[in-house]
Amino acid sequence: MQTVLITGANRGLGLEFCRQYAEADWLVIAACREPENAASLTQLATQYSKLKIITLDVQNHQQIDAYAAELQDTAIDVFISNAGVYGDRHALGELDYAVWRDTLETNVLSAMKLAEAFAPHLAASKQGLFAAISSLMGSMADNGSGGSYLYRSSKAALNAVMKSLSYDFARQGTGVLIFHPGWVRTDMGGPNGLIEADESVAGMCHVIENFDLAQTGRFIKYDGSAMPW
Ligand SMILES: NC(=O)c1ccc[n+]([C@@H]2O[C@H](COP(=O)([O-])OP(=O)(O)OC[C@H]3O[C@@H](n4cnc5c(N)ncnc54)[C@H](OP(=O)(O)O)[C@@H]3O)[C@@H](O)[C@H]2O)c1
Repeated sequence: MQTVLITGANRGLGLEFCRQYAEADWLVIAACREPENAASLTQLATQYSKLKIITLDVQNHQQIDAYAAELQDTAIDVFISNAGVYGDRHALGELDYAVWRDTLETNVLSAMKLAEAFAPHLAASKQGLFAAISSLMGSMADNGSGGSYLYRSSKAALNAVMKSLSYDFARQGTGVLIFHPGWVRTDMGGPNGLIEADESVAGMCHVIENFDLAQTGRFIKYDGSAMPW
């Protein structure tokens, strides 16, 4: 049986990842910070007996270490580091530095901490893969409009650390992919997004299914096409 762990599993892309992997009969470890307020995820767990919900705030490193210890005998085939925040949308002159630090904490440090803590679980898989949900907004080459300092810097930093991780993880046979999920109609993407979550996630699952280590460290769109750094 194959196992996937998904962070930010209660809504948006994370919830859709849960739905599609559960439908494909994987053991799904669905991590969210407030299961008591995760009605859609709880409902999904009633339909799929192999979907387990765990309480995880990705900023809480003690909680991450505790789950890593609890799951020490579980090989994780795919880890979807999906939880993320946009941060403050204010412009130059009004930036909120406390929110900026918080954005970096969630989008960068948490992803790295999760990768470190779950490295042995991924190594125990025949072909472990750590998939980081990043964004085109982390791209320097694509930045033709500026602004979004908090989000852009966090996703650019995420891309940098995931690229480094791909070299370290290659030594243990684990892959790393960095995804731009597209502009998706979720709470974060808003109603003007170009695609629905099911299309984005189906694309990423297809790419993951066909992954081999030669592709590690790539920054790609949900359909597998290369993204500009
Ligand atoms: N939608 C887009 O167009 C788009 C485009 C590019 C990249 N992305 C990226 O895709 C990922 C998912 O985005 P989305 O569109 O699905 O956003 P979303 O609907 O806003 O969902 C964000 C998820 O992250 C979780 N989260 C935030 N902080 C957390 C924390 N400290 N601990 C645990 N969970 C936390 C949220 O949980 P709570 O409900 O508890 O807040 C929620 O489940 C993000 O990394 C985002 O940056 C999205």
